[in-house]
Amino acid sequence: MFGYSTGQDPLYSTIPFYIGIHHGLNYGLFFDNTWRSDFNFGASNDRFSSFGAAGGEMNYYFIYHTRMADIIQSYTQLTGRMPLPPMWSLGYQQNRYSYYPDTEVLRIAQTLREKKIPADGITLDIHHMDAYKIFTWHKDRFPNPKQTTDALKKLGFKTTVIMDPGIKVEKGYGSYERGLQQNIFIKYTDGQPYAGQVWPGWCHFPDFTSEKGREWWKKEMNAYFSTGVSGFWNDMNEIATWGQKMPDNVLFSFEGDTAAHPQVHNAYGLQMTKASYEGARAGLNNHRPFLLTRAGYAGLQRYTAIWTGDNRAEDDHMMLGVRLLNSLGICGVAFNGMDVGGFTGNAPVGLYTRWVQLGAFMPYFRNHTGVNTRAAEPWSFGEEALEIARNYINLRYRLLPYIYSHFYEATQTAMPLNRSLAIDYTHDPKVYDARFQNQFLFGHAFLVAPLESQKMYAEIYLPQGRWYNLYTDAVSEGAREYLYPISMKQLPVYVKAGSIVPMQSLVQNTTEKPGDTLFLHVYKGEQPNQFTYYEDDGDTFDYEKGDFYKRLIKYEGNQLVLQKPEGKRTSQFSILSLVLHGFPSSPKAKAEKMAWLNAISRFDPQAGASETDSCAVQRINLKNENSKIVVDL
Ligand code: NOJ
Repeated sequence: MFGYSTGQDPLYSTIPFYIGIHHGLNYGLFFDNTWRSDFNFGASNDRFSSFGAAGGEMNYYFIYHTRMADIIQSYTQLTGRMPLPPMWSLGYQQNRYSYYPDTEVLRIAQTLREKKIPADGITLDIHHMDAYKIFTWHKDRFPNPKQTTDALKKLGFKTTVIMDPGIKVEKGYGSYERGLQQNIFIKYTDGQPYAGQVWPGWCHFPDFTSEKGREWWKKEMNAYFSTGVSGFWNDMNEIATWGQKMPDNVLFSFEGDTAAHPQVHNAYGLQMTKASYEGARAGLNNHRPFLLTRAGYAGLQRYTAIWTGDNRAEDDHMMLGVRLLNSLGICGVAFNGMDVGGFTGNAPVGLYTRWVQLGAFMPYFRNHTGVNTRAAEPWSFGEEALEIARNYINLRYRLLPYIYSHFYEATQTAMPLNRSLAIDYTHDPKVYDARFQNQFLFGHAFLVAPLESQKMYAEIYLPQGRWYNLYTDAVSEGAREYLYPISMKQLPVYVKAGSIVPMQSLVQNTTEKPGDTLFLHVYKGEQPNQFTYYEDDGDTFDYEKGDFYKRLIKYEGNQLVLQKPEGKRTSQFSILSLVLHGFPSSPKAKAEKMAWLNAISRFDPQAGASETDSCAVQRINLKNENSKIVVDL
């Protein structure tokens, strides 16, 4: 599905769940069947929809709630919710197919630092291996992998490696020999292991649908734990092979029930991520692993993040990607992303910068490109593009307290970070208008309007309520369409009135301390609102034992109430700086807010801060402040 077309179906993953909306009502339908399924919406002149599968049981769940968010919550009661990701995986990730040798990887990392582009992750694609053999390192390119990952750690980077399922058929290759000996490969009905060709040539494939196969895989992963790897990228796990469709008579354990390929195909990727997640969790010594996958089935969120595979460096693919991410969010997979900049082809400057701007508002934010494409690091498109990219990556890092709190929310209720407007404005027909269908909310506060890079005007629909322009604080009334001239330098983003947005000072990576101040931006609104602020060490599983700091923040009328914090942890911030938008202000407060607005729109002073709106700043000492705090606004 390399460079898939925008209407292509199926792609890499299968999540047989949809939300139907009509007659002012909505329902969820989860068809729990791993066979190839199909859904036919609006059949027979919109009289009905239908669904079915090539085999298996008609095992489906009908979920009714009035709120779409509750449907997502119930669906994920069935299929599970994501665990908290490590904080570093929410920072910016730099990829290409492939960075090698080790000196090149370090050069990329160092350049990110020199050019002051915050970043947390570097990914090693297939060229890090010896002849593409999983669990090996290329002797010349990466002679001392531990030394390389240590050097990267010193620079504030975590290393992710790619792990495909294909195990090269080669005498003397440890993983192959042990796999054969332990009899964990999938087989034809005559007992011969199935062989398919991938990067290393002919391969056998572990049976992840058996406990034995998964245990074998987990042990093989030890090869990476000793080399300081923190992230694991499961790719080609549909299973993808060259020029060949896997025959139907390949058998899998299917947890002891023995099933043939057509029944198992869609579940294979999911079970691979289960093995990889459990392996990584056991092998990383209480550090949270980061997992990424291409293939999966309903429930994949329990183990892994997902990305949308080999997209194209074209405008329509960027927009398609936005819709795919929004759909994944509705399907319970909150941790999702796409190749920012496009995988195949070469993005023109305007498209690249738009994509990076959008990337700052994607749950998983990585720049990746294919093997024969031009360099796609943020400095490869000239000074102006670099500055724009840096500004949006900076904004991403400032927003981490907001983003992390939303990930916590996803672990509790599965509310995704990137929210199709259909979630909150389900029965507003405008949100389904093709002109506005790509708009989404990033968390509860930000409305992002993705636009093709060539567009000189933005047609934007703001749903009911009042909306602040992120860059100027100018207020627009909702339930209205707008038409604005736009510049390449700014992605249209609005903040919903009443929003509470915690932010931090700029850091270059997530291991750096963001200073002692938490900036709490509050946007004046008429409706009461609340936000659950969440913090923990961002690294270990100790939060499961209560080592977290959680505080409900309520905004009602002219008061902001910070409830007594919960959890065993003290906040890393000792000062709370309230930045009030849309409130009466003093000259000093205005100066502070001007500094903030300029910081986020520095690259385009013309379109930057306006002095027309009012604001205020208050400081609160959080030290030893463990009871309820009430602030009059
Ligand atoms: C296919 C993946 O989709 C792509 O992201 C990766 O770079 C290549 N495989 C090579 O591993």
